[in-house]
Amino acid sequence: MRILSGIQPSGVLHIGNYFGMMRPAIALQEEGETFYFIADYHALTSVQNPAALRENSRRVAVDFLACGLDPEQGALFRQSDVPQVTELAWILSTVTPMGLLERCHSYKDKTARGMPASAGLFTYPVLMAADILIYDSDLVPVGKDQKQHIEVTRDVAIKINERFGDLFKLPEPRIQSNTETVPGVDGQKMSKSYGNTIDIFGEENETRKRIMSIVTDSTPVEAPKNPETSSILQLYSLVATEAEIVTIKQAFARGGTGYGEFKKQLFARLWEYFAPMRARRAEIMGQPTYVDEVLARGAERANGIADDVMSRVRAAVGL
Ligand code: AMP
Ligand code: TRP
Repeated sequence: MRILSGIQPSGVLHIGNYFGMMRPAIALQEEGETFYFIADYHALTSVQNPAALRENSRRVAVDFLACGLDPEQGALFRQSDVPQVTELAWILSTVTPMGLLERCHSYKDKTARGMPASAGLFTYPVLMAADILIYDSDLVPVGKDQKQHIEVTRDVAIKINERFGDLFKLPEPRIQSNTETVPGVDGQKMSKSYGNTIDIFGEENETRKRIMSIVTDSTPVEAPKNPETSSILQLYSLVATEAEIVTIKQAFARGGTGYGEFKKQLFARLWEYFAPMRARRAEIMGQPTYVDEVLARGAERANGIADDVMSRVRAAVGL
């Protein structure tokens, strides 16, 4: 089984990225051959500063490795190290109905938030379809916000298959239901563009401050609190054991503990959870050539497959 996913180097990775995509993607290393890449072509739709794009891309590679991605088991590479993917995107775009792209939420959300409505942003899902199809991927682990893009990928693959013969496998999304949407400190979906993130590798005091700033209701300390609607509990559940979750839920229901105290417990648990990854990250940063070697090896593997698939596609469409 071939498993593929991408992450945009459009900023610093946050725990929404980690629990929504990176942790499931890392766990899937046990189940097949993994291809994980840094979607730098996609990030160009929002980061148009060359130094920042280069630095973010490298940082995403370091952070993904620190979080447990094993470059021996699978490939880690930069999207732009396999430029054939843009050729496939063009071919796919010639069968992609405009209406399919017009229905995509992501474009509408991003332009509504003030991002320039570029052609690249609009055709973003076609490039994403090319990313997936060029490696004959079976499974794509992503957060819920990417589900529609996988549906577009399948629709486009079906169109190509109908017109040119069975060229592509139809990929399946894998969305972890308990981490569908990780809430940010304001209770909305955690996202860079909402300024509500908790970074995976944030500095200690800053991380504590972010967690202490989680928005809560005004239930007084003595009163029972509803565990079901609390983002503190939602975040805590991502890192705590079953027994710890039961205990904190009881404390919510009992009353007598303020939200500040629960936030402290959340900070302690999260900080401890990421401790081994911080240590691994420091190690990686101490070997500057390591990341370059990993990315070069990953690119080589990815290119091998992409070249084969592109020969098949070019022949089938008459190029
Ligand atoms: P992006 O930063 O948009 O490239 O996101 C990278 C991956 O993280 C995608 O699979 C997203 O679905 C996932 N992701 C981002 N934010 C969240 C969140 N708040 N909850 C769950 N998954 C997320
Ligand atoms: N669009 C994805 C995101 O913003 C990143 C991405 C690009 C991707 N190409 C992909 C994810 C292919 C999965 C498969 O999160």
